[in-house]
Amino acid sequence: MTASSFHQPRTTSASEPPPGCPAHARSGNPDGLARLFGPEAAEDPMGLYERLRARHGPVAPVLLDGDLPAWIVLGYREILEVVGTPSRFSRDSRIWRWFREGKVPQNSPLLPMIAWQPVCLFLDGEERHRLRLALNESLERFNRRGIRRHITRFTHQLVDDFAARGEADLADDFAEHLPMLVMTQLLGMPDAYGPQLVEASRDMVAGTETSVASNDFIVDTLQQLTRRKREKPGDDVTSWLLEHSSKLTDEEVWNHLRVILIAANETTVNLLKSTLRMVLTDPRCHASLAGGQMTLPDVVEQVLWSEPPLMTIPGRWAAVDTEVGGQKIEAGDMLLLGLGAGNHDPAIRPDLSVPLHGNRSHLAFSSGPQECPGQDIGRAIADTGIDTLLTRLPDLQLSVPEEELHWQSGWMTRHLTSLPVKFTPPRSDASAASAGPGDTDAEVPRPLQDTADATGLDAGNEPLVQAPSVQAPSVRAPSASAPTAAVPTARASWWDSLKAWLRRR
Ligand code: HEM
Repeated sequence: MTASSFHQPRTTSASEPPPGCPAHARSGNPDGLARLFGPEAAEDPMGLYERLRARHGPVAPVLLDGDLPAWIVLGYREILEVVGTPSRFSRDSRIWRWFREGKVPQNSPLLPMIAWQPVCLFLDGEERHRLRLALNESLERFNRRGIRRHITRFTHQLVDDFAARGEADLADDFAEHLPMLVMTQLLGMPDAYGPQLVEASRDMVAGTETSVASNDFIVDTLQQLTRRKREKPGDDVTSWLLEHSSKLTDEEVWNHLRVILIAANETTVNLLKSTLRMVLTDPRCHASLAGGQMTLPDVVEQVLWSEPPLMTIPGRWAAVDTEVGGQKIEAGDMLLLGLGAGNHDPAIRPDLSVPLHGNRSHLAFSSGPQECPGQDIGRAIADTGIDTLLTRLPDLQLSVPEEELHWQSGWMTRHLTSLPVKFTPPRSDASAASAGPGDTDAEVPRPLQDTADATGLDAGNEPLVQAPSVQAPSVRAPSASAPTAAVPTARASWWDSLKAWLRRR
């Protein structure tokens, strides 16, 4: 596709397939379709979506990695139509034409996200309902206050590590770590799982050559956790899934723990970074927050509209020959939901500058019965984490001009690579003072105490967190032609300690 062809008027007609239609392309790039993997998409994904919208309308043909054709749904109403009619748009990836025809390479970076697994992400109907009920009810068992205490405690811990420096990179030193640290508590793991799981889950979602190996590492870890919680349950999501009336098998439990971790981490990291950037750079936001016209949750909602953590998601396959947004879709075609594009659809937001005032009807969490079940946890991590950070470091400001901030895009996400800031180092007692009476260790809820006890990591014990010196953790042999590249590295002492902890549970 030439640059100029992007600006051609919409080519679709109901009677004729557009050039390069996935239903007719049969893989390869015969018509110069836009690639969602590649420099153009990485450089400016929103620009690409708008060019696609201008050329094709609300549903556009694109190419995935390996030049496998798919559709991207760009229109707000069309996304609602797709997620709202599971009888036409299934979640079962096994019906994808290119899987059925054996055209998806075994080492495709798409596989960790779309290879069928026995989890609600890939199921329809009753079976999906059974699993989703277990997920919803287990995630809802945490009370808000308990989660916020974890968030506050870990935010203080992270700030303690850099506060004395008077400068930090809030992407690297804060946003990349907070969600996974909180999630390890919710799942019932020791804190020390956090760093390695952060690395592995980011790598997996990015679709790199080590994605498959990273996925294997996560699976290994969660299988062991499930076995241990079956033997000795605690107050955590793993144990609640195991005991739920939906009667999940161990395999179903660890598979859903994986879904939770992957779904929660990258998304919430991105939300934290984008919200921090807006708080630090947007003068309207500064003024509104200071003047009380806008709350931090309002800013979070604004970011969920303008920079949704997942710009595009895979996950719908046409169950029948059908039509959406003026395009003819054939049974077996894959559809991606362009959540970022949907949020900017001129059909529902003709003037993007109109303030949204906390409006929650964006698509950042998708919509309908399939909507994200962890959205309140994600929102809580973003607004409590940033609120606590700003309380600790009230004069926080960007240390580089805004134009020097860099973004990185994958096929699903776009995120800031760094967020350098400076501030006045707080007095040494600032942490205790700002934690407040409700945030003392004594009030930390049970799961935290359970895991700390279980690891035997009291002062003087072999520290799990002494990590960075070793080889990769042992991972299961990757299937078929999976890449030989190493999984994210971890230190042997960390891995050994983790295995020892799991054996003891
Ligand atoms: C704030 C950041 C988050 C965003 C933007 C986000 C967004 C999404 C989106 C777009 C989906 C796909 C829905 C669909 O296929 O239609 C999803 C699914 C999911 N999310 Fe989130 N999410 C976030 C945080 C979380 C957290 C913190 C958790 C867990 C505690 C979580 C758990 C899940 C799960 C389990 C699914 C799969 C649901 C299903 O297939 O039925 N998410 N999320």
